[in-house]
Amino acid sequence: MKPLGVLHPLLVHFPFALVLTVALLEFRAYRADRSLPSPHAHPLLAVAAIGALAAAATGWLHASGRTGSDAILFAIERHRWFGVASTVLISGAWWLFRGEPREGRLLGARALLLLATLSVGIGGHFGAELTHGRDTYLAALDQLLGRDPAERELSGKAARARLRWAEERLTEWSPPSSGLPLSYEGQIQPILVGRCLVCHGPEKMVGGLRLDSRRKALQGGDRDEAIVPGDHAASGLWYRSSRAETDRPQMPKDEPPLPPEWIDAIARWIDEGAPWPEPEPTPWNSTED
Ligand code: HEC
Repeated sequence: MKPLGVLHPLLVHFPFALVLTVALLEFRAYRADRSLPSPHAHPLLAVAAIGALAAAATGWLHASGRTGSDAILFAIERHRWFGVASTVLISGAWWLFRGEPREGRLLGARALLLLATLSVGIGGHFGAELTHGRDTYLAALDQLLGRDPAERELSGKAARARLRWAEERLTEWSPPSSGLPLSYEGQIQPILVGRCLVCHGPEKMVGGLRLDSRRKALQGGDRDEAIVPGDHAASGLWYRSSRAETDRPQMPKDEPPLPPEWIDAIARWIDEGAPWPEPEPTPWNSTED
């Protein structure tokens, strides 16, 4: 049964587009004559209800056993229950739109239709968060407003201080003189803080990944192991940012690639066992504003 779950994203759009269509038709009918429903409402809602039922069933299969970050599980839960509520509301509206219109029942039918439309909208929003990430919308907004995404993400003062600290380190970044091992604080932390934490840090953990402590980094993300100490080629941290042969999106996402000497340093540091002090050093907290 579970493979049927992949049909969910495909199935889900049709019934819900239909509900919006019925809502529009009904709105026009209401404006023309309040006491008469649109003749299309009842039959279209029947199709929508069947479609919604199929979408809910496949959605349930699709979500069952899914793991991920708290944010993802939260979005799944919300999406699930708004999806179920939408299905119930659509079926209820269909039932009330039946037969000869009677005033009280028509009012109820329209109320349910309105609620169904809202529920579909909210449920769809959580669904889109699952497939596109919340950032799709915010990024589009940034583009419209000509805003720098990094600024939006880092609205917190602590986060800004962190980024400023990293930028200073990165302008004078250099590998250790030959023979010396790399140090987390010297070479690696500025890269992670300056280029990765906006999306994989305390404010936001895209892909279920946080890179602000060794323990969290070792837990990896939803899809990849971020760090396999001693094996850079198996570490997402490296192959996601090295332009290596991989089908994975490259990091930092939608930004210029890291300079080759940083990528080499990451590889070497992972091969040296990814030494990383605990607790996480936060030198930016002591820098002056
Ligand atoms: C602008 C946001 C952004 C930045 C900055 C960013 N990432 Fe990502 N990262 C993402 C997104 C989005 C995904 C999920 C992509 C996917 O589906 O594989 C991801 C996924 C990952 C994953 C895989 C997580 C998993 O298991 O699914 C790794 C590893 C990773 N990023 C490493 C990095 C590193 C290292 C940096 C810094 C050099 C970085 N990222 C910077 C957005 C970002």
